[in-house]
Amino acid sequence: MPLVNMKTLLADAQKGNYAVGSFSVANLEMILGVVKAAEETRSPIILQIAEVRLNHSPLAIIGPAMLAAAKNATVPVAVHLDHGTTIECIGQALRLGFTSVMFDGSHLSVEENIAKTKEVVALAKGYGAAVEAEIGCVGGSEDGSVDIAMRCTSPDQAKIFSERTGVDALAIAIGNAHGFYKDAPELRFDILDKVHSSVDVPLVLHGGTGIEPEDFIRCHQNGIKKINIATATFAAAEGKAREGYEKGTIKGYYDLHQAEIAGAYENAKKHMEIFYSVGKAE
Ligand code: 13P
Repeated sequence: MPLVNMKTLLADAQKGNYAVGSFSVANLEMILGVVKAAEETRSPIILQIAEVRLNHSPLAIIGPAMLAAAKNATVPVAVHLDHGTTIECIGQALRLGFTSVMFDGSHLSVEENIAKTKEVVALAKGYGAAVEAEIGCVGGSEDGSVDIAMRCTSPDQAKIFSERTGVDALAIAIGNAHGFYKDAPELRFDILDKVHSSVDVPLVLHGGTGIEPEDFIRCHQNGIKKINIATATFAAAEGKAREGYEKGTIKGYYDLHQAEIAGAYENAKKHMEIFYSVGKAE
């Protein structure tokens, strides 16, 4: 099964009424663990990395590893740049062969966000890649470095934004935030319903870590077709390693390597079941 375009994966998810998990990865172990879960559950997936994480995992190195994992997988895998903020980085991901990019203009005025998103859509078109953008503002930042206030998406703006930019996927803010939630999130399903009834493009939920299974299900039954999971993957890989040290089962580097793979695998598999993507790779 080849590397695929995110647009195709999300169109299939719209038809089949499920969501595709978009899992952030930081190293080879996480890539291996997430792909293992996808192959075992026969789930289509998206492997992603955010621009802000590239100081730790340079795109020129992790990008080709993500693409190679997708090309060698037995299930459809799209490879995505998450929260692209600069044309340089977005261009680098496209040149490497990423099948989609996100342009995050959520901090800009709506007009500026539309203008810059259109630039990215035009650029990506030359590579046959899909584009995700954000309207409204998801709380926090992808790596927790900035405490950005959540600003719920206006359904009217979402409609105008999607029509004027021609994006393939639209991230919305409905009470969701990146990182661990301090209090249980109360998602604004009233906003989701309004956006879903007026916008045709697949919707994206960021800030997946800590959202309850019943809320995920309500989201993917109402237009959310891509769900981003980052912090939970990192925490699962790290937690499994810590458990191994505490129990004394990690005796050398390759035990640590296996523990990280196992953590990423278990976390991804759990989410694929909640997203109803199991068996949808066929
Ligand atoms: P979490 O870190 O909350 O899972 O958010 C992931 C995300 O939205 C990445 O863009």
